[in-house]
Amino acid sequence: MEAERDYVLGTHEEELARLGLQHRVWRPFVLDCWQRAGITIGKRVLDVGAGPGYAAIDLAEIVGSSGEVVALERSRNFVRAMETMCRARSLTNVRIHELDLMNSELPKGDYDFAWCRWVVSFVNDQSLLIEKLAGVMPKGSLVIFHEYGHYETWRFFPRLPMQERFREHVIATWRESGGEPDGALQLPALLGQHGFVIRSARPHIFCLGASDYMWQWPVTFIETYLERLIEIGRIDQKFAEQVRAALKSAKKNPNARMVTPLVLEIVAEKL
Ligand SMILES: C[S@@+](CC[C@H](N)C(=O)[O-])C[C@H]1O[C@@H](n2cnc3c(N)ncnc32)[C@H](O)[C@@H]1O
Repeated sequence: MEAERDYVLGTHEEELARLGLQHRVWRPFVLDCWQRAGITIGKRVLDVGAGPGYAAIDLAEIVGSSGEVVALERSRNFVRAMETMCRARSLTNVRIHELDLMNSELPKGDYDFAWCRWVVSFVNDQSLLIEKLAGVMPKGSLVIFHEYGHYETWRFFPRLPMQERFREHVIATWRESGGEPDGALQLPALLGQHGFVIRSARPHIFCLGASDYMWQWPVTFIETYLERLIEIGRIDQKFAEQVRAALKSAKKNPNARMVTPLVLEIVAEKL
């Protein structure tokens, strides 16, 4: 049996659950984005780096049986989870390809859209990814990205030095694994080089209190990634406890606010 193809965030059960929460938190903004871009019944959407398929399933329900979602994902665990979710919902319009975006040919298709969220940060050659997308996206189709543009916007007020140290470990480990946290920054140039023109670009950034649902998104990331950092020997238990204590203090302070990492939404058309 082929081994699981892991990546820097991991593909274990906790990460699968975290991606689910992350999708639910972002869902209103994502649905709004898809609607503005024109995703509707009958459309064909390529989901690039689909994870366990939370977005792919929403897309499949939106495009309906006359449309189609083609989901590309490297992790076998995530592919299996996506297959299970599709079966549970009797979805027959999702085609799943277990492949590595960096060294496989992408399946050709009559796509109207490509959706790519939090993947550009993790591939080790962003230019190759855009080149491959350019190779399969038909003229007039749209590619939609939600990717980090400035990860260091993620901070607390009052400041939490331990969260900032944690954030620096995140940035460093993503870079060490061959990725680039601020993945969106290169997109305008790369899209231009590969025959796309940007139709819209907008920032998504939030200022949250502990009672906001979205607060759970970075907080669950901290919890799962602390474990990951311990596992790879980057930090020790004491460091993790200090981060947790800092978070707890922010949660108790009614005046504390968290600013989220900047996400850029970029919609580009293939010329
Ligand atoms: C942060 S997750 C985002 C998943 C999904 N797009 C979402 O928004 O929920 C990044 C995903 O990219 C996948 N990935 C990273 N590098 C990849 C590669 N080279 N080929 C295929 N998938 C890759 C990972 O396995 C993971 O599922």
